[in-house]
Amino acid sequence: MSDKYDVIVIGGGPAGYVAAIRCAQLGMKTACIDQWLNKAGKPALGGTCLNVGCIPSKALLEISEQFEAISKHSREHGISVADVQMDTSLMIARKDKIVSDLTAGIAQLFQANNIDWLQGRGTLLANKEVRFEPLSEADSKIYQVENIILATGSSPVELSCAPLTDDRIVDNEGALNWHSVPERLGIIGAGVIGLELGSVWRRLGAEVVILGAMNDFLAAADKQIAKTARRELKKQGLDIRLGSRITHTQINDNELIMEYTGKDGKQQLAVDRIIVAVGRRPNVTGIAVDEAALKLDESGRIDVDDECETNIPGVYAVGDVVRGPMLAHKASEEGIAVAERIAGQKPHIDYNNCPWVIYTQPEIAWVGKTEEQLKEAGVSYRCGSFSFAANGRAKAMNQAAGLVKIIADSVTDRLLGVHIVGPMASELIAQAVIAMENENTSEDLSRMIFAHPSLSETIHEAALAVDKRAIHAVNRRRK
Ligand code: NAI
Repeated sequence: MSDKYDVIVIGGGPAGYVAAIRCAQLGMKTACIDQWLNKAGKPALGGTCLNVGCIPSKALLEISEQFEAISKHSREHGISVADVQMDTSLMIARKDKIVSDLTAGIAQLFQANNIDWLQGRGTLLANKEVRFEPLSEADSKIYQVENIILATGSSPVELSCAPLTDDRIVDNEGALNWHSVPERLGIIGAGVIGLELGSVWRRLGAEVVILGAMNDFLAAADKQIAKTARRELKKQGLDIRLGSRITHTQINDNELIMEYTGKDGKQQLAVDRIIVAVGRRPNVTGIAVDEAALKLDESGRIDVDDECETNIPGVYAVGDVVRGPMLAHKASEEGIAVAERIAGQKPHIDYNNCPWVIYTQPEIAWVGKTEEQLKEAGVSYRCGSFSFAANGRAKAMNQAAGLVKIIADSVTDRLLGVHIVGPMASELIAQAVIAMENENTSEDLSRMIFAHPSLSETIHEAALAVDKRAIHAVNRRRK
């Protein structure tokens, strides 16, 4: 361990660990302070994303998707299988192994980059000092440092009317560790986490009811995409009740009662377990002493400028703890940009080209503006869409639900937004990000050669459809 650092990063999630690696690559002596303890009570890097978020949830999504494909859909391919069983304990063990492999991988990267991993709590003091309180019994230490990056992430919002219990009322973390499938599962929150975890447990056999307070389904998504997604999720048996606000939960011996106000007034629902997924709040409590005078913004996140610098020169903040979407990839890009800025470079992030993905089946992904946003801004645009139902590869995969929609400026033809609900949307959306970052037009995409047969052809056809010349669809004029 060193006594002197060029940079100290507080937080080792996708914002902080990535910032630390980039700082080290640029020749700065770097330490990363992190207090995370994993399931086994051991320090682990990777924060929420690797330990209890993106990675473990994707592991469970993948396993449950395979289970459903084998148990429910193999006959459609002519394959007979008998006695398909799900061993949830093995599933959880597999998920844990993926998590421990990846978190250990970050520790190795730290070692290889000569980054000191300080296991414990970091606090910003006044005058660019950082206090480090180790998880071990060792004394705390104060470092004077020129550059500090705050990357303390976010935590699930708690509901006073549905306090968490050991394993019956849980947040996203608890719902990743159930060793048995609940018969009836209630989810509070029809957002990203509610839909993803609801999908996992429904595929494994739970009856799932999702309560969402808002009347709109996936309000941030393009309306047509959200509508298509909702229809598909409903077909799968996800009971999504919008405009339903939870008011009370009661824990009985053999069941949980959820009380909520919905379209038809006060309602009750009996379930066996509940997941609370009503959003996340930034981890700002206690990260800086009052004397440091770190400024927060109106929403309670750390106030930063366009380049992620706080009101204290040389103190930066990145990821969920600052404005913008709480997405791991946005956080990592900010971490990289801040490291490069400290090194004197001029990095740039185009937030408009940040992709969103929801890992339901079909997946939902988009980048850029929705039709609704463009209408509101008075921008004139043209739209082209193409259905997976007319795509050979999607048919072969037995995943032909959904569509790709491309929105282009009606004057310049520049791409303004690409919206997908369909198979592998999380992968397909990268093509749209590259095209938008390169300021491509729909004409550019139309003139590129896409491999046949592939899911990507839907992007080609949607681009052609902007100019009403899709080949494998009837091109109708929109009003
Ligand atoms: P969210 O903000 O996506 O959704 C919260 C939901 O809770 C909304 O539907 C809202 O109407 C509902 N709600 C709030 N109070 C309620 C109440 N009293 N009763 C009923 N419903 C209520 O939050 P979520 O799903 O917890 O996700 C948190 C964050 O994690 C998001 O910002 C998301 O960006 C990030 N995340 C991203 C993932 C991805 O990119 N695939 C995966 C998981 C999380």
